[in-house]
Amino acid sequence: MMWLAPFALLVTSLVHPSSQQDGNTTAPFPNATYPNATSPNPAAAVNASFSPPYYPAPWGTGAGEWASAYAKAQAFVSQLTLTEKVNLTTGVGWEGERCVGQNGAIPRLGFRSMCLQDSPVGVRDTDYNSVFPAGVNVAATFDRGLAYARGQAMGSEHQMKGSDVQLGPVAGPLGRAPEGGRNWEGFSPDPVLTGIQFAQTVQGIQSAGVIACGKHYIGNEQEHFRQSTEAAGYGYNISDAVSANIDDVTMHELYLWPFADAVRAGVASIMCSYNQVNNSYACQNSHMLNYLLKGELDYQGFVVTDWQGQHSGVGSALAGLDMTMPGDTLFNSGQSYWGANLTVAVLNGTVPQWRLDDMCIRIIAAWYYVGRDNASIPINFDAWTTDTYGYQHFFAKEGYTLINEHVDVRQEHADLIRQIGSASTVLLKNTNNALPLTGKEKFTAVFGDDAGDNPYGPNGCPDRGCDNGTLGMAWGSGSANFPYLVTPETAIQNEILSNNGVFQSITNNFAGMQIQQLASQASVAIVFVNADSGEGYITVDGNEGDRNNLTLWDGGDVLIQNVSAICNNTIVVIHSTGPLLLGNYSTNPNITAILWAGIPGEQSGNSIADVLYGRVNPGAKLPFTLAGAREDYGTDLLYIPNNGKGAPQIAFTEGVFIDYRALDRANVTPIYEFGYGLSYTTFSYSNLQVKTVLGMNGTYTPTTGSTPPAPTYGTVSNNTADYQFPSNLTYVPYYIYPYLNSTTLSTAANSSDYGDNSDVPLNSQNSSSQPLLPASGAPGGNPELYDVLYEVTATITNTGSIAGEEVPQLYISLGGPYDPNIVLRNFERLSIQPGMSATFTADITRRDLSNWDTVAQNWAISSYTKTIYVGSSSRKLPLSATLS
Ligand SMILES: *[C@@H]1O[C@H](CO)[C@@H](O)[C@H](O)[C@H]1NC(C)=O
Ligand SMILES: *[C@@H]1O[C@H](CO)[C@@H](O)[C@H](O)[C@H]1NC(C)=O
Ligand SMILES: *[C@@H]1O[C@H](CO)[C@@H](O)[C@H](O)[C@H]1NC(C)=O
Ligand SMILES: *[C@@H]1O[C@H](CO)[C@@H](O)[C@H](O)[C@H]1NC(C)=O
Ligand SMILES: *[C@@H]1O[C@H](CO)[C@@H](O)[C@H](O)[C@H]1NC(C)=O
Ligand SMILES: *[C@@H]1O[C@H](CO)[C@@H](O)[C@H](O)[C@H]1NC(C)=O
Ligand SMILES: *[C@@H]1O[C@H](CO)[C@@H](O)[C@H](O)[C@H]1NC(C)=O
Ligand SMILES: *[C@@H]1O[C@H](CO)[C@@H](O)[C@H](O)[C@H]1NC(C)=O
Ligand SMILES: *[C@@H]1O[C@H](CO)[C@@H](O)[C@H](O)[C@H]1NC(C)=O
Ligand SMILES: *[C@@H]1O[C@H](CO)[C@@H](O)[C@H](O)[C@H]1NC(C)=O
Repeated sequence: MMWLAPFALLVTSLVHPSSQQDGNTTAPFPNATYPNATSPNPAAAVNASFSPPYYPAPWGTGAGEWASAYAKAQAFVSQLTLTEKVNLTTGVGWEGERCVGQNGAIPRLGFRSMCLQDSPVGVRDTDYNSVFPAGVNVAATFDRGLAYARGQAMGSEHQMKGSDVQLGPVAGPLGRAPEGGRNWEGFSPDPVLTGIQFAQTVQGIQSAGVIACGKHYIGNEQEHFRQSTEAAGYGYNISDAVSANIDDVTMHELYLWPFADAVRAGVASIMCSYNQVNNSYACQNSHMLNYLLKGELDYQGFVVTDWQGQHSGVGSALAGLDMTMPGDTLFNSGQSYWGANLTVAVLNGTVPQWRLDDMCIRIIAAWYYVGRDNASIPINFDAWTTDTYGYQHFFAKEGYTLINEHVDVRQEHADLIRQIGSASTVLLKNTNNALPLTGKEKFTAVFGDDAGDNPYGPNGCPDRGCDNGTLGMAWGSGSANFPYLVTPETAIQNEILSNNGVFQSITNNFAGMQIQQLASQASVAIVFVNADSGEGYITVDGNEGDRNNLTLWDGGDVLIQNVSAICNNTIVVIHSTGPLLLGNYSTNPNITAILWAGIPGEQSGNSIADVLYGRVNPGAKLPFTLAGAREDYGTDLLYIPNNGKGAPQIAFTEGVFIDYRALDRANVTPIYEFGYGLSYTTFSYSNLQVKTVLGMNGTYTPTTGSTPPAPTYGTVSNNTADYQFPSNLTYVPYYIYPYLNSTTLSTAANSSDYGDNSDVPLNSQNSSSQPLLPASGAPGGNPELYDVLYEVTATITNTGSIAGEEVPQLYISLGGPYDPNIVLRNFERLSIQPGMSATFTADITRRDLSNWDTVAQNWAISSYTKTIYVGSSSRKLPLSATLS
């Protein structure tokens, strides 16, 4: 989602394509076929620039663990009138209430408006909140427990602020290209690592009684052209948002994979993305929403738009959208595709009552599923100002009252944040045990803008939209306000002063003479450098969200060269949102250590000091590849529109070959590979054992049968007089209401194309029983996909002299000519005392061994030989075995 802050460019264009729908069979690039070279099945070599329609929208059934939440939701929704139901589905408009998104309330039943609030790293737009490490750091921990604990802590902060829905975590972008501006909000370009940490985060958040929102569904792999209106602000004239053209195999084996994990973990809301997928907007794409998410994955929660990501009323409703945010067509237009239009659409019969009821059931069931009935408290903050008193309705400037109670929700989370910060720091190089430092070094020098304070203060750049001072958080709606930011400079100085040592620092990267002078005196020089990125509505140093390059920012490379040319004990610490080019640093003898610390949040300095001074033995692993050249990744972003004034087209022709899979296929050696990371101790691997549980001969039963017919709850009167604006209403300007301003429907809709039924695809109003999909059967897909076929164990021994943590990783070669060499399938972070051993245990499920069969529309295990590998990175795999 986005926030056009007051200083940012305000897009006022109301020109909008009103009715894109995926029944459109005219592919703009008929030649954009999927390359057969990457396909495990020749039939997958399809034209991926067209999204096949799938109707009707599946209605929730209370499947899996959702039964009791559904029963409560049915009892609640049965009592509602038409306008009360519409209220649940539609936001009240941008800056209409206090959270970044709120739907309408149901005052008659005492149900307050739901508060949807950013971000994936905490509570955005408020104070007295924590700033947690970013998703990319959580990935680097390879620690399920820390992912859960962070989710629970963030959920608890949202709960205490009165937020109902935390808008996170993120698995889209997955990280197709390393330059992607928001990759850090998500976890890793590996779908299994992302899927596990995404699901853990969801369960952590929801354990605190707050609805998690898995986003952005799907194909949101770059910031450029994600919205045509935003692109216009940058001078691009395009009619529609970029289309991510993704074939069926790649969709299943890569981009959809983590969402399946989240659905299986019970994620109660999912945000559809701004972009188009195969030339149909993600928020009205019936293939993505009806077929894949609600059909195949049997998703029981609700789908909410990204902010301003809705492009049609009837079309999106029938394609499976359940809630529109912030509710207006464009920010502050005062108009809505839903609101009154949805009331009208139900009354004129284009949106069946069962579809509206299903939206409401999904929204209310989500609310019960996470226990909002016990956890909900009044909203006590305001997203638009930190003033204590102000307007309840910010944009309309109405309802002056107490809006910010400044509730401190941080609890003891600083300890967890510090712990995740150090647990996510990857030790890349450590020549002759240069690290850990003792703190008793004779002369410690720290260099780099990235070590120090932002001169404007830690929150001095709105939504962290600059790269000044240490990079504790990247920019965009995925950020939060710091309560404080412990810089590396402060933490290291504290360390040295406690030992009565000598400490000096220079945070101006361009003070060449002073840098050389200080470097010549230092017994150890610690150089902090960074590379930043963020969301597309903010540009920093010419980077429109996405990075323009993979090199260091702010003269970081010159700084490293200046210091290391003089000091033969130079330690480099990198804060970055993703991969970057390390030049010859890995081989430069004066650079004795390199650490990647990611985007660590408010405790940044303490976390890195814990690692540098050996209180924490590093155990993190790279959640992506550090390649030698940008081209090595085999993927890149689209920076210039390639389809005239039409929607830019990105064909994901690399298929599933992103990050390490691309380098492996091309036989390119990276600088540091995916999964790599050192420790202050050493480990050995032995004794691989594979136990057959069900094995590969067991049967996999495609789901058959059909759904019950669509239920409806309560009755909707056809009398338009029942839905008029109440006479006693205190009307708030720009606010989106469910009411009609006329008893004539076309007048109430106030829409130039009223009555045009092209938005009603074939079968979309059908409420009869529907066939179940073979790969469906329970939330997350066919339950037999998660059957354990093999159990793998291996012995990991700490061969050094201090306690440490190691992440053994299980990779599989699926063996087909179009499969990656290896794919990660499991991992575990183990804590092992010196001289001791621990057992790594990992399950292999049916899904882990399957490919997507585009003809059967189901998963299948191919006949190719499957080999498993266990080791300490994607390229250090000492143990292997063939599965029989
Ligand atoms: C179908 O898509 C093409 C290409 O984007 C566009 O020109 C055409 O207007 C669309 N047709 C409909 C009915 O939306
Ligand atoms: C596909 O067709 C479009 C439009 O005709 C053309 O601009 C483009 O170069 C073609 N691409 C390839 C890979 O042939
Ligand atoms: C892909 O298919 C085309 C057309 O059938 C064929 O000419 C080409 O050799 C195939 N490429 C590979 C790598 O199999
Ligand atoms: C719809 O929501 C608005 C805003 O919360 C509220 O004022 C109004 O009373 C609600 N309408 C109904 C019918 O509940
Ligand atoms: C109904 O939707 C149309 C766009 O399809 C919009 O122009 C119109 O203003 C909406 N009506 C209301 C009452 O918001
Ligand atoms: C802040 O950062 C911007 C670029 O991100 C840079 O141009 C500017 O000089 C910096 N200002 C300060 C005071 O560091
Ligand atoms: C890469 O981008 C950063 C940030 O805009 C900039 O500081 C740096 O100079 C760029 N690198 C190159 C080689 O242009
Ligand atoms: C390493 O540092 C020494 C000074 O200690 C310097 O003479 C030498 O040139 C440096 N080497 C490199 C590769 O920068
Ligand atoms: C690094 O430089 C110092 C003094 O400049 C010297 O004493 C030491 O031997 C050098 N170390 C190496 C490994 O070259
Ligand atoms: C029904 O109402 C919706 C919402 O205003 C409108 O888009 C649609 O064109 C209408 N359809 C008919 C058949 O009147």
